[in-house]
Amino acid sequence: MSDALLTVDHLNVGFATKAGIVQAATDITFEIYPGEVLAVVGESGSGKSVTALALMRLHPDNTIVTGDVRFEGRDLLNMSDREMRATRGNDIAMIFQDPMTAMNPVFAVGDQIVETIRVHDSSVSKQEAWTKSVDLLKLVGVPEPKRRASQYPHEYSGGMRQRAMIAMAIANDPKLLIADEPTTALDVTVQAQVMEVLHEVQAETGSAMMLITHDLGLVAGSADRVQVMYASRLMETGTIDQIFYESQNPYTMALLDSIPDLDGLKEQLEPIPGNPPSLLNPPSGCAFRPRCAFAADVCAAEVPARVRVGDQHESRCVRTHELETLVGVTS
Ligand SMILES: Nc1ncnc2c1ncn2[C@@H]1O[C@H](COP(=O)(O)OP(=O)(O)O)[C@@H](O)[C@H]1O
Ligand SMILES: [Mg+2]
Repeated sequence: MSDALLTVDHLNVGFATKAGIVQAATDITFEIYPGEVLAVVGESGSGKSVTALALMRLHPDNTIVTGDVRFEGRDLLNMSDREMRATRGNDIAMIFQDPMTAMNPVFAVGDQIVETIRVHDSSVSKQEAWTKSVDLLKLVGVPEPKRRASQYPHEYSGGMRQRAMIAMAIANDPKLLIADEPTTALDVTVQAQVMEVLHEVQAETGSAMMLITHDLGLVAGSADRVQVMYASRLMETGTIDQIFYESQNPYTMALLDSIPDLDGLKEQLEPIPGNPPSLLNPPSGCAFRPRCAFAADVCAAEVPARVRVGDQHESRCVRTHELETLVGVTS
């Protein structure tokens, strides 16, 4: 494989709160390669956003971050604030669930894209940047882009706003796009359209993408690889086929049972019983143990290590090698 674009090595993120340390991301290790789409999936509260924000250094002040994060070999956690700001927006851009958090309500959409372009390259004239803004809005499927560029964010529908935010995110040709629940706030038809735009844009620009979502169903046609997160840890990492058809992890299997299957033939959806644990006082051993159909005494003893179960495929479960037989027995 070619050299990784982003390398995250043993990243830990904790929040100092009155009640104690909330350990929101633990021992997170992964890479993103140029041009690939890596999906990060897990129930709400599993630490997906916290991981993305920490590696972009956008976390709040009370945050304890350790580990090593490299972008093209450059040390993101220790570079100067100035260098980090230049990296964000230039090399790495983020798309959030709510475009209103990234857009300024008092400026026209086109002007905001102009600003994004000119902050990073002041040699571009306002006129050139405006023309580029209109082109970008066209690329993401905003109709009548010339007229729409002069409008304000509140004049856009939710789906159009999300398209505009994608336009803003790609304005400086980032090598990596981090999209955090980019379609969660939208209704289902619009969700599909925005996902399609993200794909087209990603294919057109050749950028890599980290696609964060709680919706495993969304990633089937949208990613090259998937990593599944639970209670602050990565539980399983693999290609789409490995995760959907050859999962070696009980949490992933439970997640798969809880979503409609791709051809819609599944008779019954089974929600995962129980709730994710508190990150203030997680259970000993495997954090999924209290909800796991395959839990045994050994699971309480220690946090399972990451086990390599195939090419590009890793799982955190001490019973990984027994699962094939166990699944047969219980179903
Ligand atoms: N600033 C904060 N202070 C304390 N806890 C936080 C803070 N931000 C997030 N958390 C906690 O970290 C955990 C992971 O959150 P998050 O990454 O947002 O989850 P998600 O996977 O839904 O994106 C949650 O339990 C959340 O309550
Ligand atoms: Mg989130």
